[in-house]
Amino acid sequence: MTVPDDIQIRCLDRIGDREIDGLSDVLIDCVEGGASVSFMLPMSRAKAEAFWRGAAASVARGERFVLSAEDASGAIVGTVQVILHQPENQPHRGDLAKMLVHRRARRRGVGALLLAAAERSALDAGKTLLVLDTASADAERLYARQGWQRCGEIPDYALLPDGTPCATTYFYKALRG
Ligand SMILES: CC(C)(COP(=O)(O)OP(=O)(O)OC[C@H]1O[C@@H](n2cnc3c(N)ncnc32)[C@H](O)[C@@H]1OP(=O)(O)O)[C@@H](O)C(=O)NCCC(=O)NCCS
Repeated sequence: MTVPDDIQIRCLDRIGDREIDGLSDVLIDCVEGGASVSFMLPMSRAKAEAFWRGAAASVARGERFVLSAEDASGAIVGTVQVILHQPENQPHRGDLAKMLVHRRARRRGVGALLLAAAERSALDAGKTLLVLDTASADAERLYARQGWQRCGEIPDYALLPDGTPCATTYFYKALRG
């Protein structure tokens, strides 16, 4: 498998209008493609932009990292988040969330690049344990390939964008320097 050399991963320290536009394109495409990532159809631009504006404010407060994957033209084709802000008895833990790759950029290793970069960023921020849940079989294989431990499945946890109930599967990974 080749690593895409035209993809640049960035940890966004400021999320402005350009980034909100590109991140919204990716989120809308994933929801319209059937991904269970908090949103139902119809997936409007207003819902996507409101989500990313909230995420931008959270980044500014230092509560999370948002990483982007950009192609050679500078277009955002993927993203992932690390939620740093946790209860005071879990300072070493982070949540991995909103791993999204635009359908046009999938199956080229962008998800794998984003995941590796998110793990490095979390470790650099002092996190030694990451947790996530996913309703996607494609994502399950990605996490398992990168050493994440599958914990188990909760049936009927959420809805797919079209309203069909779906299970979620929990994973964790202990990070090492
Ligand atoms: C899950 C998701 C992020 C994966 O992103 P991706 O960029 O396609 O991931 P990768 O390219 O690293 O890996 C995907 C597949 O492509 C394969 N692949 C990677 N590079 C390749 C290459 N150069 N040539 C051929 N195949 C390749 C991988 O082996 C993997 O194969 P598999 O499906 O048989 O396991 C993406 O499918 C997605 O956004 N899904 C919708 C949103 C979602 O549900 N997210 C999960 C939320 S937790």
